[in-house]
Order: sequence, then structure tokens, then C-alpha cells
Amino acid sequence: MKKISIYDIYTQYNLINKNVVLFGWVRNRRHSKCGISFIDIYDGSCLRTIQGVITNNILNYESEILKLTNGCSIRIEGMVIWSMNGNQKYEIKINKIQVIGWVDCPGNYPIASKKHTCEYLRSIPHLRSRTNLFSAITRIRNGMFYAIHTFLNNFHYYWIPTPIITGLNSEGAGEMFRVSMLSINNKNNFLQKGINVFKDDFFGKETFLTVSGQLTAEAYACAMTKVYTFGPTFRAENSNTTRHLAEFWMLEIEGAFLNLQDIIQLSTDIIKYIIQYILQYHILDIEFFYNQGDRNIFYRLEQFINTKIIQIEYSDAIDILLTAKINFKHAVSFGADLFLEHEKYLVDKYFCAPVFITNYPKHLKAFYMRMNHDNNTVAAMDFLVPNIGEVIGGSEREERQALLKNRILEAGLDIKNYDWYLDLRRYGSVPHAGFGLGFERLLSYITGVRNVRDLIPFPRTVNHALC
Ligand code: 4AD
Ligand code: MG
Repeated sequence: MKKISIYDIYTQYNLINKNVVLFGWVRNRRHSKCGISFIDIYDGSCLRTIQGVITNNILNYESEILKLTNGCSIRIEGMVIWSMNGNQKYEIKINKIQVIGWVDCPGNYPIASKKHTCEYLRSIPHLRSRTNLFSAITRIRNGMFYAIHTFLNNFHYYWIPTPIITGLNSEGAGEMFRVSMLSINNKNNFLQKGINVFKDDFFGKETFLTVSGQLTAEAYACAMTKVYTFGPTFRAENSNTTRHLAEFWMLEIEGAFLNLQDIIQLSTDIIKYIIQYILQYHILDIEFFYNQGDRNIFYRLEQFINTKIIQIEYSDAIDILLTAKINFKHAVSFGADLFLEHEKYLVDKYFCAPVFITNYPKHLKAFYMRMNHDNNTVAAMDFLVPNIGEVIGGSEREERQALLKNRILEAGLDIKNYDWYLDLRRYGSVPHAGFGLGFERLLSYITGVRNVRDLIPFPRTVNHALC
């Protein structure tokens, strides 16, 4: 007998009147007085459940079937048939049912009921995967991974697994998680100022979890032209917002001979491709969010695909903000950083659409960004979307050795650590550019789920690292 999933039933149209085996979990069950039970089964393969219908003439009806509760795992054998009930297309007429795992104390099952808040579900990340919400997010997340790799493979980008453990702060700022084998019992280890205690550490130097794979990806772009890195990325900022994770996934694309306009085009194309892919292959999951109340979801996604994305310069953004009749908490002026409130005004109120902002003052951006002719701004871009803010940050890279050295020194970084990076400019340097896309933030834009903690299976944030 063929072992199938629920997804198979809804996608392989030849299973009607076939006997099949299906494994899954009980979502719901009803027992009628006339000796028939209806069991809704889910297996995570798609959003849909399948209804199994079973009559009391099977052996374990009284002893087991009537005792089934939500969450029990079962194996069923039966025939796929058209359903008489308008709520679903198919059902399975069950001949045999075997309980694989009972739920201990059903009254205590943490997700026995249908509705739970996201806050509550965050406290049980190992069980929230069983809800429709988290299985829908997980399937879309997986679809996005697949779409990203497919798109980049189609355009002959090579995937470089850049290191997770690094000696460098690639962004030249921000907090990093230390990786060390030095004994915490020996407090002096970390406290000896001016002495390189890390020479006795595992790597013989100070090391951290990476904040970005960009610099090492550049080494490959400067040899293989089109590359990307995609993996977990770590930031130790004490940020307790709905947009920050201590461990998140970042896609970083790096291309030799690309400029700012090229990467703006590339980032637009890849997001359009991802959205198209999700609309094509995960329409049920997107519909789930629509039915949950995000009535704007189809419009938002289709608009993204069909409209030209707005592009403005940092100086235009400042002009717009200066004329806005709003009392911002952080003062707006030329040269000042854009805070979330400013970004929100631009995308949520002024444009009501995603926006690229380009050419920021150099002192607001990382040391590696390429200086523009004005000697004041860098060829950088941030991509902002409504309700989330920055989803992408990217730039042309400073490929001129002398200028890069200056920027490293100006940023107060130890030039010795960047000698290898300067080699890329010493030997056959080329103009190149790239960007980093926050995967959970894009997932947030697509699904409309606001908190990035709900968009990664086991979120790591300040004071939270469950499981
Ligand atoms: O703007 P960021 O810091 O850029 C870089 O790291 C560059 N090296 C990328 C590159 O050019 N290759 O980070 C890129 C994106 C942000 O736009 C944001 O979407 C996401 O990464 N991001 C975070 N997402 C979740 N939690 C955090 N703490 C994040 N920090 C950045
Ligand atoms: Mg940024």
C-alpha cells in the first residue's frame, strides 16, 4: 500500500479510490452517536488537514478511537474518496487505525485549544511548530530558501560558505559575541589590559561569531565574479525590538564589476522572484494569512511585483523629513542618521511603498563603502519596506587601496587585521558591490507577521534562548 502525505492527496489527482497509508497527528475529532467518528489529521506537508471517517465496527474503536485527543499521533490505512461534506474535497475511509503516540494528560497539552497568542507560543517554541501559523511560516520560509538558491543558480552565482567564527568585525561597529575557550574561572584572562590574553586561546587570537560574511565573500567575488553567502549571522546588540534577533539569517550577494544601480536592480529582481515563487507554490499558506485578517497581503505582494520601486537619495529623504509636519524624537538635519521613526514616516506615511535610499554621508556608514566624487557621501543603499523598515543594506565597495586604508584608520580599526582585505586591492583590484538581505525581515514583509521572533523557529534574543 502506498505511503502518502496530505499534500500528495491534494496534488496527485490519481489517488481517488486507492488504498493508502498515512501518518499524522489528530487536529480534531468528533464522535457521532450512531457509531461514526470523524478525525481531522494534519502532517505538516501542507496547510490542509484530511478528514478520516471511521465506523465502530473496527476492533479498537471503543478501546482507542473514542479516547483519541488532539495531538495523538496515528497511522491510518484506508481509501481516498470524494467527500460528501462541502468543507473538504477528499476524505479517507479508514479501515485500520493504529495509535502511535498518546498525549499524556490531554488537559495539560500546552496547545490543546485552537487560539493562542504569539507571546504564549514563544514560550513553547518546540511545540508551536504544531500550529497552523507556524507550519505556514515554516513552509513559506522553506520556499524562500529554495527560490533564493534557484534564482542565484540560474544567474550563475556561486554559494560560498563564509566562516561563522571570525577574527574581524566586518561592520566595523556594533557588539559581537565572543568565541573563547579561556576559562571564565580565571577572571584575569579577560581583564588584563594591554596584554594579548587571546594568544593562549583556542585560535591564538580574539574571535567572535560573525556579524556578516561580506568581507570574505569579497575575496571570492574578486576571483569568481558572482558569489553569495547565506547563513546564520550574529549581533550582540542589546536590542529588544520586533526587528532584532541575536541570531538571524542573512543573504549576502557580492559581485565584481557591479555598481550601485546594478545591486539595486539585482535586489529588486531577487525579491520579485521570491514573491512570485511564494505566490505560485505557497498560495494556500498566503491565503491562511489573508483569512487570519491580513486583507492586504495579496495586494501588497502583487504590487511589489508589478510596480517600479521608488529610489531617492539620502538628501531627498532629509528634505522630505524636514518638511514633514511631525515632531520627531530625533532631530532631522543633513548629516544626521535616519532613525526608525524617520524611516517609518518615509515608507508608511509619505510613499506608502518600499523605497531605496542611496548615497548616505560617509560617517553614517561602514568603512568599506565606496566614497562618491563629492568626497562626502558613499555609494550605499538601504532598502526600506512598510511596517518593517530596513530589509537590505548594501553598497559599492571601496576598491582603491589608499582610500580604503584611510577609512579603516578613520574608523579606529586595527589595520593589521585588515591586511588580507587590502590584498584584494593590491592585486588586481576591481570595482565591486554587494548587499545583505535580512531573511526574517523579508519573511515578515511577505507574511505580514510583525515580530521577527515568530519568523525563525527558535529565536535568540536578549534573555531568550529556549531549546
Ligand atoms: O545593514 P547590515 O548591517 O549590512 C551588513 O551586514 C552588510 N555587511 C551587508 C552586505 O553588504 N553584504 O545588515 C543587512 C541586513 C539588514 O538590512 C537587516 O535586514 C538585517 O540584515 N539585519 C537584521 N535582521 C534581524 N536581526 C538583526 N539584529 C539584524 N541586523 C541586521
Ligand atoms: Mg544596515
